[in-house]
Formats: sequence, structure tokens, C-alpha cells
Amino acid sequence: MNKSLIVGPFKQILTMDTLPDSGPIDDDALEIISNGYVLIEDQNIAKVLTETEFQSDAIKASHSSGTKLDEIEEDAVIMPGFIDAHTHICYAGTRAEDYGRRLSGETYLEIATQGGGILSTVSKTRAASQLELEQGLLKRARKHLLEGVTTCEVKSGYGLKKDAELKMLRAIHSLNQKRRLTDESPAFPILPDLVPTCLAAHVKPEEFKDHEEYLDYVLHEILPCVKSENLCNRIDIFIEKSAFNPENSLQFLKQTKALGFSITIHADQFSRGGSQVASKVGAVSADHLEASGDNEFEMLKAQKVIANVLPGASIGLGTPFAPARKMLNAGLTVAISSDWNPGSAPMGDLLVLASILGAKKKLTMAETLSALTNRAAKALEQNDRGLIKEGHLADMIAFPCGDFREILYHQGTLKPHRIWKNGKEVK
Ligand code: NIG
Ligand code: FE
Repeated sequence: MNKSLIVGPFKQILTMDTLPDSGPIDDDALEIISNGYVLIEDQNIAKVLTETEFQSDAIKASHSSGTKLDEIEEDAVIMPGFIDAHTHICYAGTRAEDYGRRLSGETYLEIATQGGGILSTVSKTRAASQLELEQGLLKRARKHLLEGVTTCEVKSGYGLKKDAELKMLRAIHSLNQKRRLTDESPAFPILPDLVPTCLAAHVKPEEFKDHEEYLDYVLHEILPCVKSENLCNRIDIFIEKSAFNPENSLQFLKQTKALGFSITIHADQFSRGGSQVASKVGAVSADHLEASGDNEFEMLKAQKVIANVLPGASIGLGTPFAPARKMLNAGLTVAISSDWNPGSAPMGDLLVLASILGAKKKLTMAETLSALTNRAAKALEQNDRGLIKEGHLADMIAFPCGDFREILYHQGTLKPHRIWKNGKEVK
């Protein structure tokens, strides 16, 4: 069925096109089309029209030949939907107790060594059914979409044994399948695209005495099933004193790469070592990087590893932000993601988090918005989104304002009032 729709006029269309792939971006570099329209055909953007093009005979003719016009009467700014390239939103239970303990002075790592932290979410996630996991994930994914996130990465990593890791990945996969059927079953809510990542190497589960032995188990017991069920094509590992060391991680990742997986890494969150592994193994992104310095930036830049910074973990833990300004000045491609998870980053409001990071680290508005759209798309290797451009997915969000600067000025509290996912309006 060929459906086409022209939507507009928008006070501003912020295309996010023609921006540099890496390094600093001035706000002047943003392409802004005033009073333009977007022609949507099926799932895609068929054309971005200036006011003059819209008024031309050709467009009027296509309008009379069945293209519908959705006329925007209020002031609105439209831009590509946000892409959240790092989340852990498939889980069971809560960590409100941990949060209270942290506010009373205990650290994340102290709580982790006393049976709280990640392992407490692991017990609850192991005990949950796939359907319960799907229900929690659906609720969070839907909240994200209504706040403008049209593509969302989701990690496993709270199972830490074969059946439970597969259960998490199957929950993500199953919801994604149902999402794709939305057209045929309009009763199912529209959701963001979910991009699954296997984080079985999150921490060592208690049943294993040895880290190497556990990584071996992941490699030989879990990943072959992930492959044969085609559950994901991305692998993550947490490189940290409390998790996996750089040497074991490098060996593990080389083997996962040989199996054809793309690599992303929880790197340099509290101590350095992860970025070096990311550079050596040719990871797509290194995420966190709160503890990174100039040497790490140089290594990441040389291997074109994307720096994905996660302000949610800094706010949730009350620890310093990643040095995003320095990373951009060093020429890196910086993406910003929520890290939404039950432990270190419970808030999950990507626009609020990015706005605060931008204010604190003096990122230009163009740098922050790019980190949430076209640059975040690169962190997920999705080259069909992140721009308002002919041929790209019609994943778009509109804000009730006349000037794009209002978006970050309101620090995340001005929310999109119109959202299109794959060309369909989300209600
Ligand atoms: O990205 N750093 C490791 N993993 C997650 C936290 C997960 C959790 O605490 O449940 C993170 O912050
Ligand atoms: Fe994380």
C-alpha cells in the first residue's frame, strides 16, 4: 500500500544533514529550512520541500492525486528522532534500596561487593518470565518513544547464564517483532526500533570462580545460541576492576569479532584500560569514558572509535561527567546516550540528561543535538536514520516552538508534541 503525506509548514526543519562526522560543530553549521514541508512516503522521507517547492505546480498536482496534507497550524520545529545508543531497560525489579544507600554515603562499588548492585538485578531478572521482561521493556520503550526516542539500543547482561541471557535477548527480539507488525495489528502500540546487544560479559556471576572460565562459557555456550537464533549482532563487555580486566577482555573480544559480531565496550568508567582495548579490537564505540584522558582520546581517534558518553550514570552516582568538550576538541565523534538502567542511571530521560551534560561541559547546541541523532546513528551502525533527508526513515519529532534553540534552553522539559516513527504518527 503506497501512502504519502505532506506535513508542514514547520517554522524550522533542522535536518542535521551536512555536519562533520567528528570534532566540534558550530551552531551556524546547522542546516535550517524555514517554513518547509516533509513529504513522507510509506516509512520514508521522500523529499524535504522548501516553501517555494511546496507551492510549485508539481507538488500541488501530487496533492490533488491523493497525497494527503497534514497542515501544521502552530509554530513547530521538526528534527530527526533521538537515537539512544546505550540502555539496559530490559530488567526486573528495582534498585531503590541501593539508591538510598548511595545517598547515605556508600559507593556503587561497595554496594556491589555486598551482594547489591548488578547482581541483585540479576537475581530478580533470572526469576522473571520472558513475558514479564517484555512487559517492563514495553513500558520503558513506550515512555522513551513519547519523549522522542525513535531508536533504542537494549542490552542483556542481567541473566549471566545461558537460559537467562537468552530469555532477555528473546524478550527484546519478540517485542521488536511485534513492533514490526504494528501496521497489521493497530492495537499494538508503536515502539522505537530496539537494537539488541549481548552483554553476557557484564560481571562474573557468583557460580563461576574465575573470570576467564566465565568468558569461555559465554563464548562457547551462550554466543553460539545467540548466533543460531539470530538474536543480536553486537557484543558488549564491562572492563573495570569490579568486572573484567583488559587482557581477558581483549582475548574474548577478538574471538567474538571473528564470529562476526560488532563490538561496543563499557570503558574507563572508574579506571582506565577499556579505551585501549576498544582501539585494539576496532570497537564501534567505547561508552562511559568518565576516567579517560588525552592518551585515550588519541587512541580512540586513531581507530575511529565513537565516544559514547552517558551523563545518566554520572547523575545517578553523583560522580563527574565524561570530558565531552575535550573529546570533541580532540576530534572524536561524540554520541550521548542515557545508559538507562535500574542501578546507576534510573532516570532515563535522554533529553534532560543531554541538556545537563551540554550545560556542564559547554557543548554547542549543534554538538548536543548531533550527539543524539546523526552521530548516535553511527554508534549503532544505522545509516538509514538520524537525518531529515530524502531516503531516510521518517523518524521525526516536532517541538512546539519557533526556534530550535528553545529545545535545549528548556533543559529537556520542552517535550516533542508530534512524533513520527517509520512515517506513522505516534498518538
Ligand atoms: O552502564 N557499568 C556497568 N553497567 C551499567 C550499570 C548497570 C547496573 O548498575 O545495573 C552502567 O552503568
Ligand atoms: Fe551501561
